[in-house]
Amino acid sequence: MSELNLTSTIPTNQSIDVPLLGLGVWKSRPKECYDAVKSALEFGYRHIDTAAIYGNEADVGRALKESGIKRSDIFLVTKLWNADQGYDEAQKAIDISLKKLGTDYVDMYLIHFPVSGKRNDSWRALEKIKGEGKARSIGVSNFMVPHLEELLKETDIIPAMNQVEYHPFLQDLELKEYCIKKGIVLEAYSPLAHGQKLEDERITNLAKKYHKSNAQILIRWSLQNGNVVIPKSKNPIRIKENADVFDFVLSPDDMKEIHSWNENFRTCWDPTTVD
Ligand SMILES: NC(=O)c1ccc[n+]([C@@H]2O[C@H](COP(=O)([O-])OP(=O)(O)OC[C@H]3O[C@@H](n4cnc5c(N)ncnc54)[C@H](OP(=O)(O)O)[C@@H]3O)[C@@H](O)[C@H]2O)c1
Repeated sequence: MSELNLTSTIPTNQSIDVPLLGLGVWKSRPKECYDAVKSALEFGYRHIDTAAIYGNEADVGRALKESGIKRSDIFLVTKLWNADQGYDEAQKAIDISLKKLGTDYVDMYLIHFPVSGKRNDSWRALEKIKGEGKARSIGVSNFMVPHLEELLKETDIIPAMNQVEYHPFLQDLELKEYCIKKGIVLEAYSPLAHGQKLEDERITNLAKKYHKSNAQILIRWSLQNGNVVIPKSKNPIRIKENADVFDFVLSPDDMKEIHSWNENFRTCWDPTTVD
């Protein structure tokens, strides 16, 4: 792990490599989002995670363009919103997203949430979108084991990635094992528990021990846990700090200790009750 850096990638089952660390932009307002993406790219981030519902795809696109970095050097993810799910609707939605993003492809297109009665039709649309080259790879988000099992019965294309809430206070080991077994990369969203657990004394103690910040401990834990991780910040100092996690290694004992913190603490929506 210690030899990894900000541009290190993990391979997926769709022959596309995903940078291990990216910038999340949920709740970043347009100007904040533009500035955050510009800063992140300057600091060396090459993976940006947005979504149609975040309302900032155009700002992400403008920042990417103005960064001067080659499009092919950036890993861009967006997501199909719930109201746009369905076979025909999803195909319209990707075109709208691409137009806003100012690009003719995304690197990964995700189904944002496993909407009942629609998710599998949406997946068929994503397969078509991938075939047309509008998405280099396709995946899902907030899919629990039953949603994945149902999908895998119907498709030959296994999702490249499943983006789910994952941090020391919410560790779904059954889901993680299932993803590993099926070759699906698990991407941890809200890796800082949406900022709600940063003051936890146990994290502070580890931060002192490793001379790192509390956020860095959580991000490093995600990486050592084998997850792709997308912390969000609108603050350039924190964006830089969140990427400065490649010069230390949490010991096996500390990793074990953090694994014991799970309390099924969910900060975002709960997909476990969606049939
Ligand atoms: N697929 C989904 O359903 C889904 C759901 C939720 C999130 N996501 C994705 O995952 C990304 C990350 O998740 P998230 O935004 O929920 O939460 P997060 O990354 O866990 O935490 C973000 C919060 O922590 C603060 N923060 C960031 N870095 C910090 C640092 N170094 N020190 C102290 N505070 C810090 C941020 O404030 P400042 O901005 O003020 O720094 C913000 O309030 C999202 O932006 C989005 O791209 C996806």
